[in-house]
Amino acid sequence: MEAVDYGLPEPERGPRAAFVIRASRPGDARSFLEMWEQVVAERVYVRSDVVRQSARYYRRRFRDSWTEDHASLVAVDGDRVIGHLEVSREEGPITRHVASIGMAVAPDRRHQGVGSELMAECIRWAESVGVEKLALTVYPHNHPAWALYAKFGFVEEGRLAGHSHKAAGYFDEIVMGKWLVERPSLQDG
Ligand SMILES: CC(C)(COP(=O)(O)OP(=O)(O)OC[C@H]1O[C@@H](n2cnc3c(N)ncnc32)[C@H](O)[C@@H]1OP(=O)(O)O)[C@@H](O)C(=O)NCCC(=O)NCCS
Repeated sequence: MEAVDYGLPEPERGPRAAFVIRASRPGDARSFLEMWEQVVAERVYVRSDVVRQSARYYRRRFRDSWTEDHASLVAVDGDRVIGHLEVSREEGPITRHVASIGMAVAPDRRHQGVGSELMAECIRWAESVGVEKLALTVYPHNHPAWALYAKFGFVEEGRLAGHSHKAAGYFDEIVMGKWLVERPSLQDG
């Protein structure tokens, strides 16, 4: 991967602080939004440049957080949301075996195992609903995210050139995937 220095602080590896992983609830919306605003303000890790939705929107969105089609998970320390992972199945019948992931951990709680626990729970969800493959994209400079995904067995499948046009500029996206079943043989024709 390309090494790009954005001058962002590298979090110290900390002790495993107490937190709980569970499906998100409407009451998490406000705290989630506080965390999400911090992540978006970092500018270079996630696809969003601005926070568009309100707490009201997330209260509604966090109602059905564990269905056949998607899961919305939070890591909470008491009432505080310190991490979030959203995983959604593709809609069409041809790609329904695939689910895509987006995730973030609060800047002050990174490198303490929160992302790993969210990913482990995501995999439990995927296996419980028969998802066969997990997919995501990551920016080439996002080494912590890359390391997390590699640790869970995601592999690079391709690169979408200049796919994100953020305020900070155009970014490639690396496509990564992880099969939860034996990788099928592919039909090339
Ligand atoms: C990517 C992100 C979710 C990882 O969450 P996290 O809670 O810090 O991850 P973990 O502590 O579980 O770390 C998982 C692995 O990633 C690696 N890792 C995490 N942070 C790292 C860092 N700063 N430097 C080097 N390796 C790192 C380690 O290998 C670690 O495994 P280990 O603890 O067994 O050694 C978090 O950094 C984040 O929210 N970043 C900003 C938003 C973002 O990038 N979202 C993903 C967009 S694709």
